[in-house]
Amino acid sequence: MVPTKVEHVPLASEADAFLQAWRAHPESDPPSEADCKVRLKEIAKEIEETGLYTHKPRELEFGARLAWKNSNRCIGRHLWRSLEVRDYRLVHTDSNREGQTIEALTSHVNNAYRDGKIKSIISVFAPRTPGQPDPIRMANHQLIRYAGFRETGDPSSRAITAHFRQAGWRPEKQDDFTLLPWQFYWDEKPGYVHDVLAEQPDLAKEVLLEHPEIAAFAGLELKWYALPVLADMALKIGGVVYPFAPFNGYYMGTEIGARNLADADRYNRLPEVAKCLGINASNERTLWRDRALIELNRAVLYSFDKAGITVGDHHNLGAQFEAFCAHETGKKREVKGDWSWLNPPLSGPQTPQFHREYDNTVCSHTNFFYQAPAWQQAKPSTGCPFHL
Ligand code: ARG
Repeated sequence: MVPTKVEHVPLASEADAFLQAWRAHPESDPPSEADCKVRLKEIAKEIEETGLYTHKPRELEFGARLAWKNSNRCIGRHLWRSLEVRDYRLVHTDSNREGQTIEALTSHVNNAYRDGKIKSIISVFAPRTPGQPDPIRMANHQLIRYAGFRETGDPSSRAITAHFRQAGWRPEKQDDFTLLPWQFYWDEKPGYVHDVLAEQPDLAKEVLLEHPEIAAFAGLELKWYALPVLADMALKIGGVVYPFAPFNGYYMGTEIGARNLADADRYNRLPEVAKCLGINASNERTLWRDRALIELNRAVLYSFDKAGITVGDHHNLGAQFEAFCAHETGKKREVKGDWSWLNPPLSGPQTPQFHREYDNTVCSHTNFFYQAPAWQQAKPSTGCPFHL
């Protein structure tokens, strides 16, 4: 069940709630009660003068990590304390802001990829001042993502692909795996369209899919990129909204094998996988979809492993998430969760998540939120608690 929308809470109260949440994590060296009192006075003064308050570096670091920990839909949260937090809050004031931002993001992608041993990083850009346009945002959903054309590519990228083409993008090729360009929005006005990934082919690492036993599988010419870097969610820490704060984790294989390449409204590749593997697809009761799905997911895990690139599987990640919940419960900090997302799209009942219930209350002061795309004119609020 989707919880109801929380009421609007004043910024100073959300700052208070954030500091209290920090204090519930003594392992993270929180400020003392006395320090918090002093800090909250300072925060109240700054809000009165500017409409906003400025996070200290340690608040930004713990806050971004806590926002991840509070992300009800994420199965990978046991790693929350390892998140590397990069501070780019002033980059938009640089005279070469486009170039500096591209440099920050290419560094993020390279360092997060780390020769295949993927590291979680978040790059935090300027916060929103209430009542003012957002200093910086990006059009892209992820830093690395395939375009969607009429007949080819990722159907979920069709709208943004049309947007880029209107903005002047002329891709060198239009196939199933054409990487999208980057575009920033400055004070909610569009910047240039940069074909960074086409110009630097080494930046977006991709994995060609092979099957551990069936050589012909490679002939399907399926692939996916190694690094998911979400670029369109808002980070909120103690009430302060960072509309552009791209972050990455590593993939769980099913995201690629059971959704991106398999969903009928995405790449829809199960029929050809079944054909290639000689699976009888003459009627639904042969369970050809299920069989093809398993083999496609085996190919994803096998190929990432072979390339030496970090990828999770739903069994190990499920067990790690369950251990994380148990550890937090022991600390009297119950982990919130969204059951429908914590269950993998394959073999749910074989993971601990299926057999549990989760409280799906959304922590509103510090979290990641969906927001309308930067390139969409109207920005209606949906009333959904996962939405800003
Ligand atoms: N499901 C999205 C995709 O397939 C990525 C979401 C974030 N995933 C992650 N493992 N951090 O591209």
